[in-house]
Amino acid sequence: MSGPLVLAIESSCDETGVALVEDGCTIRSNVVASQVALHAPMGGIVPEVAARAHLRWVVPVLEAAIADAGADWGDIDAVGVTRGPGLAGSLLVGINFAKTLAFVHDKPLVGVNHLEGHVYAAWLRDTPDQALPEPLFPLVALVVSGGHTFLVEMRDHLTYRLLGQTVDDAAGEAFDKVGRLLGLPYPGGPAIQAAAARATGADVIFPRAWLGETYDFSFSGLKTAARRVIATARADEGLPADDPEARLSPERQATLARGFQESVVDVLATKTMRAARAVGARSIVLGGGVAANAALRARLTADAERRRIPLLIPRPGLCTDNGAMIGAAAARRFEAGERAGLDLDARPSLPLARA
Ligand code: KG4
Ligand code: ZN
Repeated sequence: MSGPLVLAIESSCDETGVALVEDGCTIRSNVVASQVALHAPMGGIVPEVAARAHLRWVVPVLEAAIADAGADWGDIDAVGVTRGPGLAGSLLVGINFAKTLAFVHDKPLVGVNHLEGHVYAAWLRDTPDQALPEPLFPLVALVVSGGHTFLVEMRDHLTYRLLGQTVDDAAGEAFDKVGRLLGLPYPGGPAIQAAAARATGADVIFPRAWLGETYDFSFSGLKTAARRVIATARADEGLPADDPEARLSPERQATLARGFQESVVDVLATKTMRAARAVGARSIVLGGGVAANAALRARLTADAERRRIPLLIPRPGLCTDNGAMIGAAAARRFEAGERAGLDLDARPSLPLARA
């Protein structure tokens, strides 16, 4: 082994993830316990329920991750953990657990920004010899998740310059809210993707918020437009306005889902490509839960190919929250000499970068 073996813990939101990552890139194991089924009946994440689920699952997930990797504590060089941003109660479970492990096994502790983890997922590979190109600097990274949407420029490891960010909702949040308006199951992102794939009818054009030449994003106007269009469609199908159980026909759901998805994808891809040209990017990185979206992946793949800029999008399971992405970032910070004290605290609003 040439680089460190890092055990990493992710618990910022609704997935309990523990992974072992070697050399900052090779996944030795990556176990995720998802709480989606737990939160689905509520149509969204209930913070206290999420924190208690982390408490319930963090030990079995750790045991599975260590067993999957065939490793023992003697092989592990450091413990990495998400310190923010995220839900305070959820973060505290992972941080407290990581501290205890570092203390008991006498290992260095490294705190990681969750958003940095989404970026570093681009360096991950499933086997040491998997032929994946490494992202080249300067690069532009688009991170699109349930809580964040932003573009950063990286000229080197662990340094970020904010190019633009959402001024209101995150892209994933817009997917989740519009999914609910369409009567689709939670979380809205995968459900909208599946519905849109079924669309056969004529397109419904949703608005795009360009915000001039900036790299900022806005999705609240799109959400309002979606609410209006969906209300009209419901009236058209004779559905009562106040009964969420009365669903639109699957055809109408599909057409509207595709129109909404197209609008989000168009804005995200257009601004990412414009930013890549402006900074002379030698690669583009995409991360966060919405990066799992097939339409966004296809559009950016085509755009980047046309511009001959290498594009790195982790496989969908590494776009949504997981421990391996935290391990990839923790390894870089560990090798840069960073150590967290046992007084490490949760930072629910931790930013990644400044303009
Ligand atoms: O990164 P993530 O797992 O958690 C956060 O850090 O927020 O992102 C979750 C978000 C949710 O809003 C979910 O609806 C969205 O990612 N998402 C998708 C897809 N898969 C997950 N959005 C669009 N298409 C998908 N296939
Ligand atoms: Zn995330």
